[in-house]
Amino acid sequence: MKTIGVAFIGTGFMCTTHVEALRRTGMTHVVGVLGSSLEKSKSTAEKLGIPKAYGSYEEVLADPDVQSVHIGTPNRWHFEMAKRALVAGKHVICEKPLAMTSEESRELVALAKKYSKQATGVNYNIRFYPLCQEAKERVHRGDFGNVFHITGSYVQDWLLKETDYNWRVKSSEGGDLRAISDIGTHWLDLISFISGMEVEAVCADLKIVHPTRQKPVGEVETFQSKSQQAIKTESVEVTTEDFGSVMLRFKGGARGVMHVSQVTAGRKNCLSFELAGAKQSMSWNSERPNELWIGHRETANEMLLKDPSLLSDFARRSADYPGGHNEGYGDTFKQCFRAFYRSIQQGTFGPDNGYATFEDGHREIVLCEAILKSSQEDRWVAVES
Ligand SMILES: NC(=O)c1ccc[n+]([C@@H]2O[C@H](COP(=O)([O-])OP(=O)(O)OC[C@H]3O[C@@H](n4cnc5c(N)ncnc54)[C@H](O)[C@@H]3O)[C@@H](O)[C@H]2O)c1
Repeated sequence: MKTIGVAFIGTGFMCTTHVEALRRTGMTHVVGVLGSSLEKSKSTAEKLGIPKAYGSYEEVLADPDVQSVHIGTPNRWHFEMAKRALVAGKHVICEKPLAMTSEESRELVALAKKYSKQATGVNYNIRFYPLCQEAKERVHRGDFGNVFHITGSYVQDWLLKETDYNWRVKSSEGGDLRAISDIGTHWLDLISFISGMEVEAVCADLKIVHPTRQKPVGEVETFQSKSQQAIKTESVEVTTEDFGSVMLRFKGGARGVMHVSQVTAGRKNCLSFELAGAKQSMSWNSERPNELWIGHRETANEMLLKDPSLLSDFARRSADYPGGHNEGYGDTFKQCFRAFYRSIQQGTFGPDNGYATFEDGHREIVLCEAILKSSQEDRWVAVES
């Protein structure tokens, strides 16, 4: 089968991750890369063995070898780049969050409908851990009964110190929210994917731990600050939260609580959730992604280790290795892109393919805005449908 030509935009953490995963799908070939300068495009192309290094976004969009664009720049570019790629006739996978405001993401949803022969997706990759797929299937088939509540968190430590810096802390680059939109939306997307439930109201409390941070003079890529040597810095004001706690009300009556933090020492990148239902409960944690805990009241609890032979047909589609052979972060990108490019091959775009659509990406931004409003006004806020 003919493979699909892809261009990647951005030369940081996501560039390496997407390019490696795209190659592992066997469904695409990476044609070129665009960085913030031609020099960065060239050095990344050389490092990752990518044939073309572009000098501008216009060049990417004009390249007939590119059928699909992956956007992995800081958030502020997502809207404009996704819009222009669609108008230029390309398929688009955009990194999360889809845009900076719901006005932008709403426009992207409308454009995705207009250009309905092109596939559009947002890379909420965590859905694609095999045991998250299994969790969804088990909720869907009724194993847990009526869901009472879902709780959990997404916590990291890479912005713990005042000297830790990344473009995400600046609202002009990342948006008015940071921990909530950067990692909280992963949690919210995962929970809505697994439970099928929609959040109808939120009550949030956000906290900026470091109102000023030391910004290195020059660019810092993601997670770089933790291993950086002493360098020249300048003091900058920070208006985005390091910690947030959010109470959730789901349509249908279930309740939830999420907290997010980028300042929890020792928590490297830990998303966890616990779902309590009338028949059973379950919990999962991204730092031990091959284990799903199932809780019972009358019998012993279970620990399901990822093993395709023990998974449902639905989850097995996203598990490539036999039991005992762990699947991790990079594999989720491969599975997400496989679902995306499979939908292109089959001409069946949309939510049934398992990847997050622009509608899902828009929903996350609507939730973010309700969370921000709730925190600013110190009250429960209804989330628009
Ligand atoms: N799905 C996930 O698990 C996940 C993980 C990390 C980041 N992300 C998302 O991916 C995006 C990128 O994050 P990152 O961690 O890779 O950041 P990063 O800082 O490591 O990389 C961003 C890159 O974009 C480049 N860039 C900036 N402006 C550009 C422009 N106009 N044109 C081309 N390149 C430009 C920068 O030079 C840098 O190389 C963000 O939106 C982030 O939210 C998603």
